[in-house]
Amino acid sequence: MLFSLTALLFAPSFVASTTSGYAQSSPVFPSPPGKGAGIWADAYENAQDFVRQMTLEEKVNITRGFTVTDNVCAGNTGTVPRLAWPGMCLHDAGNGVRAADLVNSYPSALHVGASWDRNLTYDRAYYMGQEFKAKGINVLLGPNAGPLGRTPLGGRNWEGFSVDPYLSGQLNADTIVGHQDAGVIATLKHFIANEQETYRRPYFGVEAVSANVDDKTLHELYLWPFMDGVRAGVASVMCSYNRINNTYGCENSKLMNGVLKTELAFDGFVLLDWNAQHNLESANAGLDMLMPGGGFWGNNLTQAVQNGSVNEDRVTDMATRILAAWFLVGQNGTNFPVPGIGLKNLTQPHEQVDARIPESKPVILEGAIAGHVLVKNNDALPFKKNPTMLSIYGYDATIPGTKNTDNLFQLGYTSSAEMGQAVLGTEQHFNQAAKGGTIVTGGRAGANGPAYIDDPLSAFQQRAKVDGTWINWDLTSSNPDVNAASDACLVFINAIATEGWDREGLHDDFSDGLILNVASKCANTIVIIHAAGIRLVDQWIDHPNVTATVIAHLPGQDSGEALVKLLYGEAVFSGKLPYTLAKNESDYGVYAACGRGPTNTTDPQCDFTEGVYVDYRHFDEKDILPRFEFGYGLSYTTFNYSSLAIEPLGIKPDAQGSSTPSSDEALWEVIATVNATVTNTGPVAGAEVAQLYLGIPNSPPKQLRGFKKINPSPENSTEVVFELTRRDFSVWDVITQGWVVQSGEYAVYVGASSRDIRLDGSITV
Ligand code: NOJ
Repeated sequence: MLFSLTALLFAPSFVASTTSGYAQSSPVFPSPPGKGAGIWADAYENAQDFVRQMTLEEKVNITRGFTVTDNVCAGNTGTVPRLAWPGMCLHDAGNGVRAADLVNSYPSALHVGASWDRNLTYDRAYYMGQEFKAKGINVLLGPNAGPLGRTPLGGRNWEGFSVDPYLSGQLNADTIVGHQDAGVIATLKHFIANEQETYRRPYFGVEAVSANVDDKTLHELYLWPFMDGVRAGVASVMCSYNRINNTYGCENSKLMNGVLKTELAFDGFVLLDWNAQHNLESANAGLDMLMPGGGFWGNNLTQAVQNGSVNEDRVTDMATRILAAWFLVGQNGTNFPVPGIGLKNLTQPHEQVDARIPESKPVILEGAIAGHVLVKNNDALPFKKNPTMLSIYGYDATIPGTKNTDNLFQLGYTSSAEMGQAVLGTEQHFNQAAKGGTIVTGGRAGANGPAYIDDPLSAFQQRAKVDGTWINWDLTSSNPDVNAASDACLVFINAIATEGWDREGLHDDFSDGLILNVASKCANTIVIIHAAGIRLVDQWIDHPNVTATVIAHLPGQDSGEALVKLLYGEAVFSGKLPYTLAKNESDYGVYAACGRGPTNTTDPQCDFTEGVYVDYRHFDEKDILPRFEFGYGLSYTTFNYSSLAIEPLGIKPDAQGSSTPSSDEALWEVIATVNATVTNTGPVAGAEVAQLYLGIPNSPPKQLRGFKKINPSPENSTEVVFELTRRDFSVWDVITQGWVVQSGEYAVYVGASSRDIRLDGSITV
């Protein structure tokens, strides 16, 4: 069944079906071949030359996975021995090389998001990419732009940088460039609207959840960071497990052929999320590579070409896209290791491939420091003098006792029973807090295990050894004794999340009780939360004895050292929340994942009726006061904002019926600049994240459209310049299928958070 591409491109994308009443994804065929535009030109030339020499069987062979006993890569493609093509190893992901020895554990994406630091983001991605390369991993299965974070309970939200599409887009782009500069193929995942783990995959006759999302919301929210990723040159995109408008992500021709490959002109390859294929037809829908096996195509794809149901040009395009990605990042060079060479079964004899290089060390520590967010400080921090006595409480202060290369460890669990089992939304879930020890990452594909974890208790003890500080600790009691001479009581709790499960809630009674018990006995109680997502604090944040609170996110292996530097004032807090921290669960516009709790359906539906009103867009629109707003974070110094200068550079509204297509260069043209001066008016050096929000007509009150991390020294100023593109001012027009600058007044806000606006003005278009 082939449809005219032109006719379908101008049709509204998603229409309600008259039969089922459910949203439907419209078909878009045929699959557009890659064009090799811009940075892809040479890679395409090389790939086309290469693929021309391949037989149909050889082409099919590189579009699928094979079981390889020689390595533990998450997937391996076929090889082309006749042309000496070695195949590729594909492997996870977010925190560093997974399931491997001799690698580093980096701060998680959420932690990076909290740093708002583009330079550190690039550096982290570059050094992490080098480790993947050293291990012989061709395709790094990250970064992550989906889930974005529609529900705060999302089990994988921590694998992404932020719930805000602009912040996510910028940091995804920097990460992609970093990974690919290091010589590995980055994979932007999961495409798209993969917003919950509940019903994430079909099981036992129950379909995966259908994310029913309208065209405008899709473009302005969920697709936005993918646009940045494609523009940054991402060589691979992973389609998702869920359905979108009732068609599975990996067979959704509207999304793969239409949105990704036509509208965004993506020239790389679409990679199957593991076992997410449901039929052979996905070949025509735009899927290019299967993992981890041959799925529905294997040899059938050869037969399908022979019997005419798949055109050989489509298979040629798949192979060309895959090889172009390989050439794009330079894997044809002589210095790329044998695929999977450093990724062996650790219990079998294997060569030691140490992937860690000294240059990554400061990046890991700086990154760990930068993602800590100080949300309350009654002058308790930094410590005024070296404390004589510190008391340390809570299960999260120390290293878990389980082994460092498996998931229980990464989750801070002591047994699989504690972790629980869950497949469907109605089944058993696990504890919100991982009480087996400190967490430096969330769980599963995004996680990895390092050689050491600089856990908080050890780090404070090492410091105590130098300073002579007396440390008391009790990590098990829920109501510990407090030595009345303590200078400060540090309480460590956490909130864990993992692929495969959505969270049960945003705070737990045990941890809240522990904090209140310590605070009832200790006048200087400092709370530190390692958090794989949003963790509410209202049970105790106003307690007068809670003098400071740190959201420590997921810092990676240098967790303890980073925290000690911050508390002793050798480093300054500069992180800001990449999400809204509400007072109550009910304040979030969307709270629970769809289909949670008892349900009879075999066809779970999730209507994204909130549109783009997710996180602060919802809080602002409904005028709900958050506990700590998006973009909020304290420092040890203060910053003054002045001298706002707005310069529209010939910005004009689009005429009725005209718009800018997503792949058009004009979308990225700078059409206004905004300057402001930020002065460090406090006592110490420190970094500030200056944020720019636009109030676009007929849209949420404020939307992030710029941020700069700067560090003027005391009494000095830095001028920040925000360059705003046509896209930044645009809304998606469902009729013309393009981006439109409306006429009207655009509010311009510059400040220290989404609600701490220091300067404002406007642009009339
Ligand atoms: C499934 C996960 O959804 C994906 O993120 C991961 O990369 C693959 N498994 C491979 O482990």
